[in-house]
Amino acid sequence: MQPSNFDLFADNEPQQQPRADQIGEQSWVLRGFALPVVDQLLPALENVLEAAPLRSMMTPGGFSMSVGTSSCGALGWITDRSGYRYSSVDPLSGAPWPAMPEAFAELAHSAATQAGFPDFVADSCLINRYIPGAKMSLHQDKDENAYAAPIVSLSLGLPAMFLFGGFARSDKTQRVPLLHGDMVIWGGVDRLRFHGVLPIKQGRHPQLGEQRINLTFRVAG
Ligand code: SIN
Ligand code: FE2
Repeated sequence: MQPSNFDLFADNEPQQQPRADQIGEQSWVLRGFALPVVDQLLPALENVLEAAPLRSMMTPGGFSMSVGTSSCGALGWITDRSGYRYSSVDPLSGAPWPAMPEAFAELAHSAATQAGFPDFVADSCLINRYIPGAKMSLHQDKDENAYAAPIVSLSLGLPAMFLFGGFARSDKTQRVPLLHGDMVIWGGVDRLRFHGVLPIKQGRHPQLGEQRINLTFRVAG
């Protein structure tokens, strides 16, 4: 039996129209959006982490975070006993953070554009590595100088259950499963929504192994 034209189109252009799930008035999950460029992202990520290795940061309250963290771009998000903030240098090396790879910047810009934020130019990319059991408690992203730009987040590796809440920590949360290549964008009226990640389940991803990597692109400065 001949495949229909529709089937042919779907096979030849699998990433032309990835599925977009709306999770808030100005919040979207772009399913598989990054898959066509993952092979460019991974070597670039490796280079960044060679220059600025992942480390377990300390919260202001004195707890060690369960994720391993690094950054690239002009500004990197850091935390230690003196608080949460952005820094233009990596406190481990005293050197500027590695430059944001072109492939990262382009992906973040095109995902933001797809979600209705065409002016997005990230100056910060936070890298979080989750091993099974690691999690991110509910929080708001509010260490940036302004909130006009959205948050643009990429999931790689093991699946995660993302929690997307309201404007108070105690508000009900939606559970949003995130897979390798998915991107979440929230901005505008949704910019300060609480969000977090449930503990990552045991597993092995064919490309990334026993870990999940999240890249969060922001305009911080
Ligand atoms: C974060 O909000 O900092 C991380 C979100 C994620 O890992 O998906
Ligand atoms: Fe966050």
